[in-house]
Amino acid sequence: MRMRFLAPFVLSAVFLAACGGGKNTEKKEEAASSEAPVDNSMVKAGAAEAAASKGAALIEQKDCKTCHKVDVKLVGPAYKEVAAKYEATDANIDMLVDKVIAGGSGHWGEVAMLPHPDLPKDDAKEMVKYILSLK
Ligand code: HEC
Repeated sequence: MRMRFLAPFVLSAVFLAACGGGKNTEKKEEAASSEAPVDNSMVKAGAAEAAASKGAALIEQKDCKTCHKVDVKLVGPAYKEVAAKYEATDANIDMLVDKVIAGGSGHWGEVAMLPHPDLPKDDAKEMVKYILSLK
């Protein structure tokens, strides 16, 4: 008897987990934005924290969140995956800044990141620094 009541919930959970786009994406978006302050609090104190939250704020204003979340893979890799892949060196930061502005593909899969030609390089740099701080 209990199983009959549980079945719809289990089924909808499976359905949500299996469905990659649409509603599921919106849910993740809500979850990620409510998690954002928690992630910021984990960033090192001081100047790094100020820089990181500036990058986080810039990311919030742009279209990045359509394709990226901090710890969930959407269209693009989770920022934490990106942070795990690249050391926060100047060379890597510059490379990723160019990538965000010019767009690109082939590092994480077949899907390409849209170019952001209007994005000022300094802003892109704050964003990348924030992403790479998410270790
Ligand atoms: C249309 C979806 C989309 C949007 C919008 C988008 N990205 Fe991406 N992003 C991707 C995909 C897909 C990849 C993986 C590309 C690859 O495989 O090389 C990626 C990769 C990245 C990487 C890692 C690049 C590498 O070479 O490893 C960074 C950093 C990044 N995105 C940051 C951003 C930032 C910052 C923004 C907002 C200005 C943004 N993305 C907007 C889809 C997107």
